[in-house]
Amino acid sequence: MTDGAPLLRSPDDPPLFYRVHVFVCCNRRPEGHARGSCAAKGSEDVRAYMKARIKELGLERVRVNQAGCLDRCEAGPCILIYPEGVWYRIGSREEAERVIQEHLIAGRRAIDLMLDRKLVMSSDASGDTDR
Ligand code: FES
Repeated sequence: MTDGAPLLRSPDDPPLFYRVHVFVCCNRRPEGHARGSCAAKGSEDVRAYMKARIKELGLERVRVNQAGCLDRCEAGPCILIYPEGVWYRIGSREEAERVIQEHLIAGRRAIDLMLDRKLVMSSDASGDTDR
């Protein structure tokens, strides 16, 4: 098994159509499902909020799309931002606003909301370093 070659942009690639593409998992599973789902944890409201705010703020070439399951259900609600490939766990409008202001506008990271950082921090707290 291999990870394959690193995916870097080639000079032959066309320019990015969107400057930023935000995928919000809106998958919904039946209540009581073992894996849960992002929609059951509020992701549909997060998506609607982000879409409305991006329009309101006039952010150009930023697209927010509803995604199906991104396969990190237990850690959700998940959003994934390309081209950076950064995952966030966003559970409220306030957290969504922080991602808009810090990541999409300022070009920084909302570090404490980053999904992988949250997983590392929670496993650090429990003393469990396996990932
Ligand atoms: S339900 Fe959202 S990642 Fe699977």
